[in-house]
Order: sequence, then C-alpha cells, then structure tokens
Amino acid sequence: MKKDIVHLKSPGNWINDPNGFIYYKGKYHLFYQNFPYAPVWGTMHWGHAVSEDLVSWEHREIALFPSKAEDQNGCFSGSAVELDGKLYLFYTGVHYEKPDPENIHLCLDEQYAASQMLLCSEDGFYFDNFGRKRVVIPAIEDKSIGDRANTRDPKVWRGKDAWYMVLGTRSEDNRGSLLFYKSTNLTEWIYVNRASKEGFGWMWECPDYFETEGGKVLLLSPLGMPGDGKEKAEQTICALVAFEEETCTMAIPDTYQFLDYGLDLYAAQSTVDADGRRILTAWLRMPEPVNGEWSGMFCIPRVVEVKDGHIYFRVHPNVESRFARQISSVKEADAAAGYRLSLDMEDKGFLDIGGYQVCWKNRRICTNREKVFRNYQDYRLWFETPEIKGGCHLDIYVDKNLIEIYVNEGEYVISNAVYDLKEEIFSEGIGEMKLFTV
Ligand code: FRU
Repeated sequence: MKKDIVHLKSPGNWINDPNGFIYYKGKYHLFYQNFPYAPVWGTMHWGHAVSEDLVSWEHREIALFPSKAEDQNGCFSGSAVELDGKLYLFYTGVHYEKPDPENIHLCLDEQYAASQMLLCSEDGFYFDNFGRKRVVIPAIEDKSIGDRANTRDPKVWRGKDAWYMVLGTRSEDNRGSLLFYKSTNLTEWIYVNRASKEGFGWMWECPDYFETEGGKVLLLSPLGMPGDGKEKAEQTICALVAFEEETCTMAIPDTYQFLDYGLDLYAAQSTVDADGRRILTAWLRMPEPVNGEWSGMFCIPRVVEVKDGHIYFRVHPNVESRFARQISSVKEADAAAGYRLSLDMEDKGFLDIGGYQVCWKNRRICTNREKVFRNYQDYRLWFETPEIKGGCHLDIYVDKNLIEIYVNEGEYVISNAVYDLKEEIFSEGIGEMKLFTV
C-alpha cells in the first residue's frame, strides 16, 4: 500500500474533504472524498488512510462506494464515532434525478435527493457496502425545515446525555443554516432545532461543532459569502458560539476568523486525538493536478485551542517533534517530508522559499506565490494575516506542493498550494534561521 509522510496526499486522481476523522482502536483513521477514476470531482467514494501517529500515513482500499438507490450518485462528506467498539460512519447519500447524459457524474438543474446514511463497521477496515448501509434521515421534503438537495455533511458527536448531529442546509429564504438532530442509539434521529445567520451565504457545508476549554467553536464552509471575485471564493470560517445542548440552540456571532489565511484550505473536520486534544485537518484545493496525476491533499493536523477569545491552530506536537534533525541546507531535506524553517520575523524581514515570498509589512505577515503558481492569475496570489500585536515567530513547513506558515504558534496560519518550488532559500533582514527535517 502507498505511504505518505506529514501530508496525506491523494493516492491518485481526485480527493476533497476529510471525512470520518477518528482515533479508533489505537489508530487514526482519515477517510476522504474520492473520485478514483480521474483527477476531477465526480461520483464520490470514501477513500481511506490510517496512521499510528498522525505523521506517517498508509493508504487503504476505498471504504465507501455507491451501492444503494439513495447513494447511487455519491457518498458525500460525513463523520465517524465509536460505540461499543464499533465504528459508525455517517455520510450523505446522493441520488440524481437528472444525471447529465454527457457526464453521469454530474447532475442537471440541481435536481437530486440527499439522504443522511449510516454504515457500521466492526473493525474500521471492512465496510459492508451491500449489507450494512441504512438511511437514518431520508431526504427532507418539508421546505420549512431544509432543502431536499442541499442538506448534507453530518457531523455527529457524543453530548452529555445523547448523540447529536449537525447538518448544513439551505433555508427556504435562501440562507445557509444548520439543522440539529438528537439520538440515543445512533440509528433513530429526531429533529430538534435549527440555527442561521444573515449575510453568511446561501448554503453551509461541512459544519463542525465542539467545545474546548476556552470556548465553544463552530467551523463552517459557507457557499455564497461575498468574496473578492477570485476563484475559490468559498472559505472555511470559525467562530466562538453560544450553544445550549438540551434544546440545540445556537447563537452565531457576527465576528469570525478564517481557518487559514492562505484561503486554499476548505471543509475542515475535527476530532479528538489519543491524548484528548481537539485536532483538525482540512482539504488543500489545488487548481491543477500534479503531473496530471493527482489532486488534493490535507494540511498537517492542527491542535485547536481557544485563549482570550482567539482560536489558535497549532502544529500537532507529533509532527513538530518529528522535524528534529537540524540541517544546514534545504538540499539535505527528506524528499518526502520536506523541511521546517524556524525564525523570528523582524521589520523589513524578507524570505524567498524557492520562489514563494514572505515578508513582514504593517505588522502583518504577507506572502506572494506569483512565481510558484504558474499561470493561475484568476486565483489569489497574495495573502496576509490580520494585524499581529506582539512579536512574530514563524514555523514554516515546506513540502513540494504545500507551504504552511504558522505565525506565533498558531495565532494565524497561512497555507498555500504551490508548484515547481526551487530547492533554495534567500533571506534578508532576518536573524538566526534554523532548518529541520525528519
Ligand atoms: C465540500 C463538499 C461537501 C460535500 C462534498 C462532496 O467540499 O461540497 O459539502 O459533501 O464536498 O464531495
């Protein structure tokens, strides 16, 4: 089986959202949206990878594939929980009313039914796609609750007295909304409540809700939020919310952060690691398959922490500690894992990482990928963090196709897809800089 280190990448062809991310029976399982036949989006399967440490990944066989009328056109995103030693995978099954005769992997006129489905596996490695799938919430016909087509991405968690599920939907008045359901046994689900917010687009994809020490966090990937007109205007946002579990009442504030200021990551999903930390990963959108062969990868798992009303996304300590071998040139870096740069950025500091430029301007970290993004001028090329109050330490993880810049240990992160990076670094106005590899 194919292996990856640090960044889990598409094993070939197409991948998108992380799904069913869970620490289960001593291993991390990360499933993902997968079209196994071409490097473009199409009928969705769930690809599967496992890891013992969130650093080394082993690709496994496809876990979920269309096999029922309700999911015949795709097994869309979803999540996993464990109960009595079994792995429960929740996902959205899609049935097209009008497949496009020229490409049956797409549908016409947004005419499709979305059902919430469950597949239970005894061990996390065998998935009985024929015998053990069931619909737990049929396609919604009541428009006052949600949209028959645009309702998806079940995220399930264990609350104090029951299981809860949040779904993203489109409301009758064309607003992105959340639907909350409750269950005592994971198979029967009761609709409890909804939540919404004006000005946050028309459909909310991949909602994820969790509670951490410093606050309650909602992750959302809204469609149709006002953007800057560039490709991939959709962004994953995160906000500190008020949530009352009993009634599933959620208040969503006006203020939010971006998950990542590189604006390439999308559809983040969280879980809890072996030590009880809240962690997440997200899909790196790429404008073109690498060598025409594969598209999509996942960012380094990040620990989510809330302090003084700010949400931090820190490199998972397992990954950080693997980059322990100090090197003096990027040419000595491990070919698969890449390298980590550690430095303090100062006023007028400038760094060129194989063509990807980083500088410190107006108390912000600014980046420019013009030279390592070929001709994708319709995409965003320049990025910046919000204003940084104190000093600025950077930990930069450099992989052939993904650069992740952690500012002040996760106060902000900028992650970008890149192509044809050179194996060299140039810096100006920067003090000591350390280089590490695995
Ligand atoms: C987000 C998304 C999800 C959906 C999946 C389909 O990228 O559109 O809402 O379940 O991708 O692949």
